[in-house]
Amino acid sequence: MKNANWIKSAIFYQIYPVSFFDGNGDGIGDLKGITAKVGYLKDLGIDAVWLNPVYKSPFKDAGYDVSDYLAIDKRFGTMEDLKNLIEVFHENGIKVVLDMVFGHTSNKHKWFIKSTSKKRNKYSDYYIWSDSNFDEYNGKLIKGLYYRDGGYLMNYYASQPALNYGFHAPDKPWQLKYDDARLDPLREELLNIMRFYLDMGVDGFRFDLAGHMVKGEVWDDVSENGNTGNAWFWNKIFGTLRKEYKNKVYIAEWVCPKNSIAKCGFDFDFLTHDTPAYNELVRNEKNTNLVPELELGDNYFSENGKGTMKNFADYVDDLYKAIDGKGYISSPSGSHDEIRIGTFKSDDLLKTIFAFLLTYKNIAFIYYGDEIGIRHNFNVSRDGGSIRTGTRTPMQWTNGKNRGFSQHRGTYLPTNKDKNCSVESQLKDENSILNTVKKLIKIRKKYPCLNAECNQRFLETGYPAVYERSDGKTTIRVYLNPSNKPVERKCEVNEILLTQNAEINGNTLLLKAQSFAIIKLNA
Ligand code: NOJ
Ligand code: CA
Repeated sequence: MKNANWIKSAIFYQIYPVSFFDGNGDGIGDLKGITAKVGYLKDLGIDAVWLNPVYKSPFKDAGYDVSDYLAIDKRFGTMEDLKNLIEVFHENGIKVVLDMVFGHTSNKHKWFIKSTSKKRNKYSDYYIWSDSNFDEYNGKLIKGLYYRDGGYLMNYYASQPALNYGFHAPDKPWQLKYDDARLDPLREELLNIMRFYLDMGVDGFRFDLAGHMVKGEVWDDVSENGNTGNAWFWNKIFGTLRKEYKNKVYIAEWVCPKNSIAKCGFDFDFLTHDTPAYNELVRNEKNTNLVPELELGDNYFSENGKGTMKNFADYVDDLYKAIDGKGYISSPSGSHDEIRIGTFKSDDLLKTIFAFLLTYKNIAFIYYGDEIGIRHNFNVSRDGGSIRTGTRTPMQWTNGKNRGFSQHRGTYLPTNKDKNCSVESQLKDENSILNTVKKLIKIRKKYPCLNAECNQRFLETGYPAVYERSDGKTTIRVYLNPSNKPVERKCEVNEILLTQNAEINGNTLLLKAQSFAIIKLNA
């Protein structure tokens, strides 16, 4: 399988539809609003957007609890609005990727409601029901709510019953093997939902919880026998889709490229705060407990200069070897699930992080608002978001009313108060985060050696970190010094592409505090 050619050099952008732009003035973001902002995205240099779920939903988990895959929730508009968005984005050369949440539905989905019936029907096996209220399965069976005897398996929240893709090794009569033909109707149902959107012109999907379909498998088990059920399932899905549709992108929310790409056929997968090697580099989310020994400020991108990029460089090298040309990895600047990347960081540090994210060997992926450095709001929770809600606040277009997000008297999620963190102010400042990101995107697009396929070689992993990207013709060298200690290096410079807090005199490169330099080595 060959990945569609456009993917490796595309700049992706994630939009949380509730909070991008309110097109009809009711205080909540919508599809018309997103469409209205196509000019901003085009100007930024975006090639593809991913929208979080826009389907009908009770929003117990921000739309990741779908009650109808073939209807648009009224808070976002109509199916016509989506069609129009796709058309306008395509006219502007921007692809549109939707979120497919297939691990579970909402408990309000009609499939689930029908499956709760005592009488067997078409939907009885769509979900995983045990045979009796006295069964147990890792504490995840929700029991006693319906007439049907037995419990249903939940996936994430109790309101999200798991769809039935079977088990790795069934050991109870109610557990089906993953390749059981009784599960075919559900698989066909999913394909038809995807065909509906692909026929409409959608350019691909991001698959929620992609590593949690078949039960009894552990998402990060990369042993030979690990995830064989998930691999069977995804290969079947992609076998069909890739035959019927060309040029699409299929993105995994799996966080384990060795499984998602090498075994299952996705185009790319994310490294997020669930990837310790990446977390150690960019984030300082002590509250996730993923790297409990990491003190705030000990990560690589901090002024203290205590971290190292070594683990990450080795990790990425090893991943690309395992992936073996079948796809890519991507470290997005953030997501609707993570603490805002700029939180606890200076603007210069954040720009240094962007210099890294947009030049290292990965698919560039920007989470809306990170390009202006929106910081986390720790005081909000809505739609089942808890602490995650703080990363989902409205985009800050201006410094005025509702940050230019909505004409309504109030907004569904509160806007942040930080003055000057807005598109309006940052467009006027040559060195703003926004203008730096724009320049970095331009460089990435001008030089193919920076795409997700070309060679990468780390020369140093401390302060500075130094790596080269090359396509055999052009070689670009990147220096990063997030620390507050200045450092000097010798370097043959052909052309300076972009610097921050750095000076170059002849062959000598001075990297001051929180600096970077991107240099073309050859003519
Ligand atoms: C991952 C999504 O990104 C997250 O927001 C959601 O809560 C879970 N999957 C469950 O669908
Ligand atoms: Ca609206």
